Amino acid sequence: MIFSDFLPRTLNGEAAENQPPFRDGAKLIFSGCEKCVFLDRTQTLLYTFCNRKFMKILVTGGMGYIGSHTAVALQEHGYEVVMVDNLSNSRREVQENIFRITGKAIALEVFDLCNADRTRAFFSAHKDIEGVIHFAAHKAVGESVANPMKYYGNNLISLMNILRGMDNTGSSTLVFSSSCTVYGQPEELPVSEEAPVQKALSPYGNTKQISEEMITDHIHSEACDGMRAVLLRYFNPIGAHDSAHIGELPLGVPDNLVPYITQTAAGKRDQLKVFGNDYNTHDGTAIRDYIHVMDLAHAHVKALDRMLQGKHKDPVEIFNLGTGTGYSVMDVIKAFEKVTGKPLNYAFAPRRPGDVEKVWANPEKANKILQWKAKQNLEQMMRSAWKWEMSLKK
Ligand code: UFG
Repeated sequence: MIFSDFLPRTLNGEAAENQPPFRDGAKLIFSGCEKCVFLDRTQTLLYTFCNRKFMKILVTGGMGYIGSHTAVALQEHGYEVVMVDNLSNSRREVQENIFRITGKAIALEVFDLCNADRTRAFFSAHKDIEGVIHFAAHKAVGESVANPMKYYGNNLISLMNILRGMDNTGSSTLVFSSSCTVYGQPEELPVSEEAPVQKALSPYGNTKQISEEMITDHIHSEACDGMRAVLLRYFNPIGAHDSAHIGELPLGVPDNLVPYITQTAAGKRDQLKVFGNDYNTHDGTAIRDYIHVMDLAHAHVKALDRMLQGKHKDPVEIFNLGTGTGYSVMDVIKAFEKVTGKPLNYAFAPRRPGDVEKVWANPEKANKILQWKAKQNLEQMMRSAWKWEMSLKK
């Protein structure tokens, strides 16, 4: 395609004949509309080749770890993003940091999606929302065991309110943030989407299973008119945006491996405990499929594009999002030590209750159907996680 053959327009639809359509270094970004091409922030003006406006996408939990990276990917892909977040596990400056990356303002409304009236009012005020990506949820496995009602209450009621809000406004496209936790310890590895969903090992995991069922039942019901959803089952997202403007910001002591590693290396924690070295794996430590958070973010854009372009085959589609390679806890530690040159203080400790021994994805369905593939390897992931940790010191 020769782009100079097209007459660029400003986003208001006015012809921009006298404007050079491209400058050196401008990046092409394809939006949900195949006719449109937008240029990134290296341009003072954004151009489109048809009169369509940006599609507006609601990102719930957009200030959180995966939500913020996905907001960046959406904006860079030409979508307009509005975020809803109650800031229960995130910080206000994330909004500005997203702007620092994309150069595009991002709308944020701060409220709790468990508030049915407030959620209804939000959807009524934003009837032009064309798609919803729902991240907002509690996610700490251990906390969910200690306080199950917090998890069932928050994760399920907010989803219910969103589905009702979408029904009332005709917004019919949903991407849901699910987890490979639904597979438990799979009998076959790598695990594909056809593997049976197993009894959840924690209330957190159970909320993901129930949420998947709630969405599926709703979409297949007579009460629901034309809604479609993609359920994305994440493996283990790690790393941060290359700019180190956004990343994972665990409040308090991290539950997850990689922030614990980076905080230990940065001197914020004394020692990493490696939970279990007697698993049936190559070095005795548990295996997971770690995926870079920006790779994950791009998969959300692909899933959304697919539905908005009417390419989905079923009203509910499920995709695994992983790299297809499993790494042990010791592999992760060694990769971290290699890329940073810093020896990590760690010690072996008993297994953590509820942990599965090994799980990694068969991502072929997403590779083929979404035309998406995770690109970043473990060392790149660790490098970006460390760069992010270092940026927090400043
Ligand atoms: N681990 C340690 N020490 C730590 C933290 C973790 O050894 O301080 C180990 C765990 O025991 C596990 C591995 O590192 O073997 C990964 O643990 P994470 O807590 O980082 O990730 P999980 O696989 O337990 O959980 C993640 C998400 C969940 C999601 C789950 C699906 O946090 O939300 O993946 O498998 F449900």
